[in-house]
Amino acid sequence: MARKSKRELVAVILAAGKGTRMNSQLPKVLHPICGTPMIDHVLEALRPLNVAQVYVITGHLHEMVKDHLANRAVCVYQRERLGTAHAVKMVASHLRNFDGDVLVTCGDTPLIKTETLDALIARRRSHHTAGTVLTTVLAEPRGYGRIVRNRDGTVRKIVEDKDTNTYEEKIDEINTGFYCFDAKSLFWALKRVRNDNAQKEFYLTDTVEILGAADQEVEACIAPDFTEVVGINNRRDMAVAERFLRERILHRIMDSGVTIIDPSTTYIDNTVRIGIDTTIHPLTIIRGNTFIGEGCEIGPNVTVSSSRLGRNVRVLNSVVDGASADDNCRIGPYAFVRAGTLLRENSHIGTFVEIARSDLGANTDVLHHSYLGDAHIGAETYLGAGTMTCNFDGAHIQRTEVGNGVFLGFNNLLVAPVRVRDAVQTDHNMVLEGTVGPGPGIGTGPSTREARSRDSEREKQEATAAAAAVPAKRPRRKAAAPRRKARGK
Ligand code: UD1
Ligand code: CA
Repeated sequence: MARKSKRELVAVILAAGKGTRMNSQLPKVLHPICGTPMIDHVLEALRPLNVAQVYVITGHLHEMVKDHLANRAVCVYQRERLGTAHAVKMVASHLRNFDGDVLVTCGDTPLIKTETLDALIARRRSHHTAGTVLTTVLAEPRGYGRIVRNRDGTVRKIVEDKDTNTYEEKIDEINTGFYCFDAKSLFWALKRVRNDNAQKEFYLTDTVEILGAADQEVEACIAPDFTEVVGINNRRDMAVAERFLRERILHRIMDSGVTIIDPSTTYIDNTVRIGIDTTIHPLTIIRGNTFIGEGCEIGPNVTVSSSRLGRNVRVLNSVVDGASADDNCRIGPYAFVRAGTLLRENSHIGTFVEIARSDLGANTDVLHHSYLGDAHIGAETYLGAGTMTCNFDGAHIQRTEVGNGVFLGFNNLLVAPVRVRDAVQTDHNMVLEGTVGPGPGIGTGPSTREARSRDSEREKQEATAAAAAVPAKRPRRKAAAPRRKARGK
């Protein structure tokens, strides 16, 4: 196979086109398909092929493409877009003494598979032809270059749609735009391409006839699956490609041991990894760099993005974004777990709970109507319904610390910066400030003010302002001394 050959391989990705029909500020090849920019899909397909160098021909918005690719490819700027032959010629100076193979692909054909490119390369090498071209048969070939074959099956020429005669326009075998060329033959032929055609362009496809006339054969490889070669010219094509790729991703995930109840309403990015015996319920979207462990139940109606879930995690009707949940956590229904949140083993986030930039200890429950921002909550802690961190005073974000084995009654406000010591239990409707719990500075009464007196003047003012923001009808009460835990979930 190609990847084992000693012969060197370079790839040229044509991506200088304007993408006019996309109507976009973004270069066409940077538009995502299933969460990954088109051109990255192509690079991903090339990766296992042992390509010595990837050249990307850029034109329209080339700086953006170049920034995106960084060191993954050499970008070659094509100032004037004079056609596909002209585009490939741009790399000639880079490959002056190169005596290997050149794989030519397009940046807007994101569904191509490694195996198919491998077969295209292997065929050229084993048959020692000047080139191979990947073709497919379409019921509606309009718009594509047609493959005209010799009697012996080799390709005589490729005729662009606009240049076809009445016989050629009926040919249903088309050029997909993928080729593997012997480098020397390719650059020899490119010098001889002219632009005397309907579009006044230098066609790469003309190299086939030029090589043939010099007794250098070009063969066709038929793509096994036409969905691999769908090209994208507009956003309708994007939606079609998205559907094909989505199906491919879901099949791979199902084959790996994951149950997907309804593939038609399940959207999973290519970058997502899911463990066996996890079930994905309908209306679920899983995006970005997400890892989900074994035996989880995700959905219905869940969005998970760039997050990590451990084993046996249940998420129902919720959004988890940039967060991490260890084994056996339960989230939802109707929870919003935001970036920077870490839920440790067996913690339980219930209904209408929002958590941002917070760390929750093992076996800790926040079951109803709560907001936790910038909080560190210990293990075995129970936060009653309506627990709210007041972490933002309009200017500054402050932290909340709650210890292990704490029980907060219903409707407690944690006015940050605040610290609740281990094993503290509070009454309902409390405003907790300063340091709460046994030891110096118990409760929210005078001792809390004492705790504050050690703070700077500015913090004191902020604390007063934050306290003033507490609704007047909330009685400020002293925190109860530790008492027997009365769990009322
Ligand atoms: C091309 C093929 C056609 C094939 C079709 C498959 C030629 C002449 N024709 O036609 O046989 O059926 O692809 O989709 O090659 N590009 C540049 N620089 C240029 C011109 C084009 O980089 O100067 C890039 C475009 O960005 C695009 C690719 O080359 O990625 C193909 O160009 P395009 O103009 O779309 O060619 P088609 O007319 O689609
Ligand atoms: Ca095209």
